[in-house]
Amino acid sequence: MGSKKELARQRYYNQRVIWLTGASTGIGEALAREITTTGAQLIISARDAQKLEKLSRELGQNCMAIPADISIKEQNIAAIETIIKRFGRLDTIILNAGINAYVERHDFNSSVFEKIIQTNFMGMVYGIEASLPYLKQAKHPHIVGMSSTAAYRGLPRAEAYGASKAAIKNMLEALRLNLLPLDISVSVICPGFVKTPLTDKNDFDMPFKISAEEAADTITDQMAYYKQEIHFPKRFSIPIKLVSFLPSEWYTALLKRTVRNTEKQA
Ligand SMILES: NC(=O)c1ccc[n+]([C@@H]2O[C@H](COP(=O)([O-])OP(=O)(O)OC[C@H]3O[C@@H](n4cnc5c(N)ncnc54)[C@H](OP(=O)(O)O)[C@@H]3O)[C@@H](O)[C@H]2O)c1
Repeated sequence: MGSKKELARQRYYNQRVIWLTGASTGIGEALAREITTTGAQLIISARDAQKLEKLSRELGQNCMAIPADISIKEQNIAAIETIIKRFGRLDTIILNAGINAYVERHDFNSSVFEKIIQTNFMGMVYGIEASLPYLKQAKHPHIVGMSSTAAYRGLPRAEAYGASKAAIKNMLEALRLNLLPLDISVSVICPGFVKTPLTDKNDFDMPFKISAEEAADTITDQMAYYKQEIHFPKRFSIPIKLVSFLPSEWYTALLKRTVRNTEKQA
């Protein structure tokens, strides 16, 4: 007899058809490795077709690669059409793909915002738009979207990234309510720092950073319970949530020392 967690996983994942975006590296790749051990049929997407095919071959017949750029509406539609043609249904979408770039005070540039919003936010909207008609026909449909603890409150240099993640969190919350009469579950994932190629570029301390494998394990477990907000690691995400309730003046005073003084370099 398996543990409660294992039984929940078995109930949720067995025979489920799941589309996962952003699966070529980082959290997405770790999630693909974890989910293909559960008995689900996984379809993975990202732009790097070579990496994706290699991963799908390694993971075996429970994994199929469909390269796609999720920031382009038509490529989301084409990916979903391929899934439906091949498997006849779609039960869960995990919209994980995302990018990051920082905003510098001496180079406040709208092109950074356009790129990040188009990929992180509009990419998710396109993914939902393309799959919703099929999710409506599924037995226990589930929409899962990747946000971040950066969504809870504005962080210095994260004006574009944080805004995209806050927009995602708000959009998914609204969608969850809107879809209640259709019994479609909606989960939002808010990780703290996870070691991936995305955070390897960061030039600052990342408290309580965890591995992509630990993140994938937590997400896979909590999805099985249709958890609405999957936030981790708790030792980081709970304090961040509490801080997000502070009045603006207190919050600014608290964050002041994290703002790097680059004036002299400018
Ligand atoms: N790492 C963290 O600490 C952390 C914390 C909170 C939230 N997150 C979020 O978690 C998600 C995964 O991030 P990660 O840290 O694992 O970063 P990562 O290793 O850079 O992975 C990002 C993934 O998204 C894909 N991607 C990017 N743009 C795409 C596009 N236009 N179309 C399709 N796929 C695209 C990338 O593949 P291709 O380049 O091959 O397309 C890659 O597979 C992101 O949404 C990120 O914002 C990460």
